Amino acid sequence: MAKKTKIDSRFRCSECGYGSSSWAGRCPGCGAWGAFIEVAEESPVSRGRSGPVVRPISLQDVTSPVRLPSGMDELDRVLGGGWVPGGVVLLGGEPGIGKSTLLLQVCAALASENRSVLYISGEESASQVALRARRLGASTENLHLVCDERITGALESMGDYAFVVVDSVQALRADGEDGWPGTPSQVRAVAQECIEKAKLLGVPCVLVGHITKQGNLAGPKMLEHMVDVVLLFSGERTSSHRILRAVKNRYGSVDEAGIFDMGDRGLIPVADPGHLFWNSGTEPASGVALTVALEGTRPLVTEVQALACPTPFQYPKRTSSGIEVNRLHLLLAVLEKRCGLSCRNSDVYVNVAGGFQIRDTGADLALCMALASSNLDISLESGCCFLGEVGLAGEIRPTGRAGQRVREARRMGFSRVVLSVGEKDDFPRGIEVVRVGELRRALEVMRR
Ligand code: TYD
Ligand code: MG
Repeated sequence: MAKKTKIDSRFRCSECGYGSSSWAGRCPGCGAWGAFIEVAEESPVSRGRSGPVVRPISLQDVTSPVRLPSGMDELDRVLGGGWVPGGVVLLGGEPGIGKSTLLLQVCAALASENRSVLYISGEESASQVALRARRLGASTENLHLVCDERITGALESMGDYAFVVVDSVQALRADGEDGWPGTPSQVRAVAQECIEKAKLLGVPCVLVGHITKQGNLAGPKMLEHMVDVVLLFSGERTSSHRILRAVKNRYGSVDEAGIFDMGDRGLIPVADPGHLFWNSGTEPASGVALTVALEGTRPLVTEVQALACPTPFQYPKRTSSGIEVNRLHLLLAVLEKRCGLSCRNSDVYVNVAGGFQIRDTGADLALCMALASSNLDISLESGCCFLGEVGLAGEIRPTGRAGQRVREARRMGFSRVVLSVGEKDDFPRGIEVVRVGELRRALEVMRR
């Protein structure tokens, strides 16, 4: 007789899938609060051979899908060449950053090429979406709208469209699933319906996702595993620049970033972002150093600012915007131990101009120079930029794509670049290249 199996866990964490026979307020698996949901008992499963045999296929017989260009080059750059049929993309970002604007522009671009597109909005009324569409100059008969919170009904006609947007996965509700929109089980059910239909019909679909205060995508972590691509749209509220990055991409790399500028008529791709994150006209001031940081594969001249001033507190403050604060702590320790430059009695503030987030250790040398310059109150020479990762021994290490960075510095009018002795790249003529091995030596160059 076939052995019968039965799952013994009646409760499951909707975040990580951890199973338990009793309910718990906090998941022992991932620590999420209130994520335990009751699951129906699994029916006995026969272990015998049931159903037809699944035959493997040769990889050679699988053809590559034809991508659908998004109509925006900056977006295509991030996606790796456009939307993939049946591919599901999750677009996350802070409220008001421009997710709905970006997607409405994409819909309009596709609709103007005679493709039918469907925009499902669970957050805004038809008149609100229409108002925005007119502002963007996007009203076309091929752009269809559903403003309802029931996803199951809204997806009925998905097969008639070339592209579908679901705004947002937290605002919609799936039939047959209990709970309010936005609860982990609803978010998962809504995403599951969209993914199943998109794959079945071969229609690319974008789900808009909210993010939490900590900057993570709201809803179960499983959501990020379920979709093919996860994009994050970010930027400072005070700045009009917006950066689109891929955090996961099953169809391309996650190295590329798209840069946009939010204007009166929506988002405009920035084709040459060379001058966005620094100001070439300002007089040299202490605490300001320039570098060429990589955003994806694109080199961008970036201004790093530091301010070190005597602290009135028992514990000095370290505040950083645009550079990870742990990196700041590490470089302050290297400056103290290897170069004898202490900020022990100073509050230290660091800022990267234009709201740019540097994730590239190639900016370490510039940050150290900015910190030293502010500490000693000596301004750095103008027309000079700094490239290099700083190690714990105080050594300056090579960066990736140094040749490309130096070419960008020359294009932006810099006359001198300080970098690691270990750089092997060929550098262009027309810019003086100063090679240093240790941070201490780089500081001597500044003091001279
Ligand atoms: P929105 O796309 O609604 O953001 P999200 O969907 O991410 O919440 O964008 C709203 C903001 O964008 C709002 O503050 C106004 C601004 N905006 C512009 O500056 N220009 C425009 O053309 C549009 C449509 C919006
Ligand atoms: Mg929105």
